Amino acid sequence: MSLSRFLRPLKKLRPFLARRCARSPRLAGFFWLLSGDFRREHAGVLYGQMIHTGAIRGRDELEAEDGPRYTLRRNTHRLEKGLIMRPRRPVFAGDYIGETVDAYVALADRARCDTQADLDEGDRLLAAWSGDVLHRYFEAIDPASATKPGLAERLTNLEDAFASAHKSLNVEVGEHAPYRRDLGPLGISYDDMLALAKRRRSVRWYEQRPVDRSIVDRAIRVAAYSPSACNRQPFEFRVFDEPEAVHRIGSIAMGTKGFSDNFPGLVVLVGKLRAYFDARDRHVIYIDASLAAMAFQFALEVQGVSSCCINWPDVRSREVEIGRVMDLEPDERVIMLISFGHPDPDGLVPFSQKKSLDELRRYNVAPGLAPQPQTEAVKPTREASTATGVPATPGAVAVASTSQTS
Ligand SMILES: Cc1cc2nc3c(=O)[nH]c(=O)nc-3n(C[C@H](O)[C@H](O)[C@H](O)COP(=O)(O)O)c2cc1C
Repeated sequence: MSLSRFLRPLKKLRPFLARRCARSPRLAGFFWLLSGDFRREHAGVLYGQMIHTGAIRGRDELEAEDGPRYTLRRNTHRLEKGLIMRPRRPVFAGDYIGETVDAYVALADRARCDTQADLDEGDRLLAAWSGDVLHRYFEAIDPASATKPGLAERLTNLEDAFASAHKSLNVEVGEHAPYRRDLGPLGISYDDMLALAKRRRSVRWYEQRPVDRSIVDRAIRVAAYSPSACNRQPFEFRVFDEPEAVHRIGSIAMGTKGFSDNFPGLVVLVGKLRAYFDARDRHVIYIDASLAAMAFQFALEVQGVSSCCINWPDVRSREVEIGRVMDLEPDERVIMLISFGHPDPDGLVPFSQKKSLDELRRYNVAPGLAPQPQTEAVKPTREASTATGVPATPGAVAVASTSQTS
């Protein structure tokens, strides 16, 4: 009997099981087995890890080395944090400097010649940044003060391996390393920022004329400066501006009925789970890409181009369709779509009342931080703690008032 036939009768029990399983992570795992709602995500996370570790190669040769690229990005970021630490330790990164140098050497090997001319721009920027940071790192540390057995010798060998790869890239040491920001006047006030936030609305009606690609590219440049966990930037803006493709892809989403015909342009924001070696980071594609999306939309708006986020539902048929149309790999997850165009001045936008400040923020509310009575009688039960995420201790109080105003 196939698994789905076996599971079918159990699906009838869904409401009952949902109530039973909702409070227990273990039982909840069993519950979702029945629905399969997370199946593609599970597969995508695994597939991403396999690409990351090199167990599966990415679709084409250029992408085959994505694992070491993301390792290099993450670890270069970690080295920069070590370099700016106060006080800086005489030896740090002992547990990951080896894989960092390996990834840098792999990048240099890809260049396969004396100059960086053979690296594409992305790899060239990565080589410049990681090279400068590794150079500063080996300058800053003092291997002689390493206390772990064998570490001093390993660091010396790694420095040699790095120096040889750096030499093969034939580049000068540059300034892609920790620096002091220019804190002079920015020229943008809070009121400017608020005005921009109020001007940007989800716009669904556009003038029927193309958007200059330079406007889109400039907006993506701004988006690239968004925060990103360990600076991995595990996403791509796939831009469509040919009417047929825009309409076809726009109509795969669910929330575009009635207006997908008038989008001059459409972005499919795609997250790449291959950026991570562990399932613990599986949500970061959504966080990083959404932060970038917001910056992108603001940057469009200041150039006179409006936009609207479009929800991407995790519905099997639609995932299969967009995967086929866009040739996505299993770890490439659609985060959202964003339509864009010059706004039609006669088009209305919904008022979309925003929540009040008091609804959106609370200061210092963490009942779990209150002193915990230690008697048996008030010890939190395991189940109650799991369900709420904070210990169910009677008498726990907020450490500060929830109704401060600013
Ligand atoms: C993740 C996300 C998905 C959205 N999906 C859709 C959608 O499918 N269709 C649509 O018309 N608007 C969509 N929107 C736009 C929201 O309806 C809109 O942001 C919200 O009503 C607030 O309006 P405002 O953006 O003008 O402030 C989406 C917004 C977000 C952030």
